[in-house]
Amino acid sequence: MELGLKNRKAFITGTSRGIGLEIAKAFAAEGVHLALFGRDKARCEALAAELRAQHPGQKTFAVWHDFHKPESLKPAVDQAAAELGGVDILVNVAGGAYRGRLGEIPDDEWERYFRVKPLGLIRMTRETLPYLKQSDQGRVINLSGTRGREPEAHSMMSGPINLGTLSLTKAMANEFGPYGITVNAIAPGSTATRRWTELVGITARERGVSTGEAEKHLLREVPLGKVITPEAIADLAVFLASARASLISGTAINVDGGRTRGI
Ligand SMILES: NC(=O)c1ccc[n+]([C@@H]2O[C@H](COP(=O)([O-])OP(=O)(O)OC[C@H]3O[C@@H](n4cnc5c(N)ncnc54)[C@H](OP(=O)(O)O)[C@@H]3O)[C@@H](O)[C@H]2O)c1
Repeated sequence: MELGLKNRKAFITGTSRGIGLEIAKAFAAEGVHLALFGRDKARCEALAAELRAQHPGQKTFAVWHDFHKPESLKPAVDQAAAELGGVDILVNVAGGAYRGRLGEIPDDEWERYFRVKPLGLIRMTRETLPYLKQSDQGRVINLSGTRGREPEAHSMMSGPINLGTLSLTKAMANEFGPYGITVNAIAPGSTATRRWTELVGITARERGVSTGEAEKHLLREVPLGKVITPEAIADLAVFLASARASLISGTAINVDGGRTRGI
């Protein structure tokens, strides 16, 4: 399938590790020029160097910023857009949530995480929007999470962070549609990044079992019986960014092995 992504230009946040890193690799493989946003300069630069070596002729560079230092964002966006010569695609990946029940999460953790997602996502999209409006194939892809629509007491913070991201996705799709920009969300289930290792560890401790047993326990809730891979998320991001997805906007797609109970 021809995806029409060659020589497109993308910003991706959260590229130092996990899902963002895998999305960067998948986009590079499709011939996309990339600005790899992140606050871990060394890791983002190492990824940029690896991708430049694999895909010579494509622009790929790291862009330092930190969502906890909002003043760092606009200069980073403007400089990256100038270096790429425009922006067609924005993938908002950076984020996470402090794990715990209501009484276990201190106020400063609520504030710290919300500053990255959704507030960082809002700021990143606002600063990138003028460039996206100039594209003939504008795309915004937001990483949400299945807990947004199916909250759990033990992951209290994941609910509002990811539901807020879904709501923003819909409202942004309404606002940006007249400029030909599509906006969609991907909602991963438990994905094999450092967050999965953390979840397996907590489950093992809580249940007094080995990590192997904890993994089996967690995967019993997934009809397909498998942990989600960052590559599976990246495949969907590539499709949503492609010319083939030009009429899909304002929606959210779960990648969760069937775990979410609602339709
Ligand atoms: N993994 C899952 O099971 C899962 C499930 C549902 C939803 N999601 C969502 O998917 C996205 C990626 O998750 P992941 O598992 O890949 O997470 P991860 O491995 O923890 O990576 C998070 C990324 O966000 C970046 N980030 C955090 N704080 C930042 C800040 N202040 N400024 C700039 N960048 C910052 C991190 O940079 P540093 O390396 O500098 O910390 C890292 O690159 C998140 O939005 C998450 O909510 C993940």
